Amino acid sequence: MRKSILTALAVLALSGTAFADVIKVGVVGPFSGPFAIQGKNFKAGIDAWMALNGNKVGDDEIEIVYRDVPQADPAQAKALAQELVVKEGVQYLAGFYFTPDAMAVTPLLEQANVPLVVMNAATSAIVTKSPLVVRTSFTTWQTSAPMAKVAKERGVKKVITVVSDYGPGVDSENAFKTTFTAEGGEVVDSIRMPLSTNDFSPIMQRVKDSGADAVFAFLPSGPTTLGFVKAYNDNGLAQAGIKFLAPGDLTQEADLPALGQAAEGLLTTFHYAVSHDSAENKKFVEAAHKAIGNPAELSFPAVGAYDGMHVIYKMIEATGGEQDAQKAVDAVKGMAWESPRGPVSIDPESRHITQNIYLREVAKAEDGTYYNKEIATFEKQGDPGLAAAK
Ligand code: PHB
Repeated sequence: MRKSILTALAVLALSGTAFADVIKVGVVGPFSGPFAIQGKNFKAGIDAWMALNGNKVGDDEIEIVYRDVPQADPAQAKALAQELVVKEGVQYLAGFYFTPDAMAVTPLLEQANVPLVVMNAATSAIVTKSPLVVRTSFTTWQTSAPMAKVAKERGVKKVITVVSDYGPGVDSENAFKTTFTAEGGEVVDSIRMPLSTNDFSPIMQRVKDSGADAVFAFLPSGPTTLGFVKAYNDNGLAQAGIKFLAPGDLTQEADLPALGQAAEGLLTTFHYAVSHDSAENKKFVEAAHKAIGNPAELSFPAVGAYDGMHVIYKMIEATGGEQDAQKAVDAVKGMAWESPRGPVSIDPESRHITQNIYLREVAKAEDGTYYNKEIATFEKQGDPGLAAAK
């Protein structure tokens, strides 16, 4: 079975321009189940890109083929990626919300002659697993390190970290710890919880008992981030004066209506806020709102997908539609543009996106809705986590 798949991949790799007139892009993400809103955001970002830029590059028509992996499931992600390459003949793989799914696919890329454009998965090490990976999202190291600086500036001295126990959580914890300790702060305890944890009361008790004056937390955006922020409030941590610090995954816009007042004033650091004030973002939000249907659901995976499509269009243009994964990836090394999130570029060495990271505070708008308000900028951040990943 394995051998026949590999043979099929090799045949496809040699077939070069076999799919030159319709170029297929295989997108893997959570399109059903508890994380369906995140997958819906991939699709909204892709649709917004195509609405504004057309569905053709040169003479080639671009077709998106979606595959659903509802929760982190590396075996399923790998099987679907193989199917996309062998049966559907996709020339590009893209999407990937969860790190384990992206990691599982990297060993296929070279033989399949297919680049992987990661639109979300945020563990630093992913880009080191294959020279054919390009990432247009963020890393949790990139988004978490600035929060340690903010904490120090705001007089926080003792922090307890709480993260989901897998790649992006461990990176987030390490980023915060390394930076906060270097700034002279102290991390008094670090909790790693299983990805499936949904009862946070015992954890909130440990946070209270730790003597920390702030909790720094990372969980992947979805139902559990909502539960975690609610538990922080319901267990009286805010009243006890324990500050809440996190990357923006914990206050994604799609969760704010459900959190309501519980979110007001929360500080996060992140690469994208739907409220970002720029002409480029205005254009993007308008198109993405149309694509997603319910504007309140628009969130950060949409911008990772939108910029991912920008990169894929550039790859297709540079290869004239031919299947040459290395040439496609080389063509976007150093590529720089104005994203809806602000100025960005693809670092030629790591193939990860360099971008601004913003400090935001959840604020109440005049119409009574809540939003992430950008209040400070850390300019042109690379990924310090890559050094640790090697
Ligand atoms: C990941 O699995 O890499 C991941 C998922 C959701 C996030 C961040 C990282 O919000």
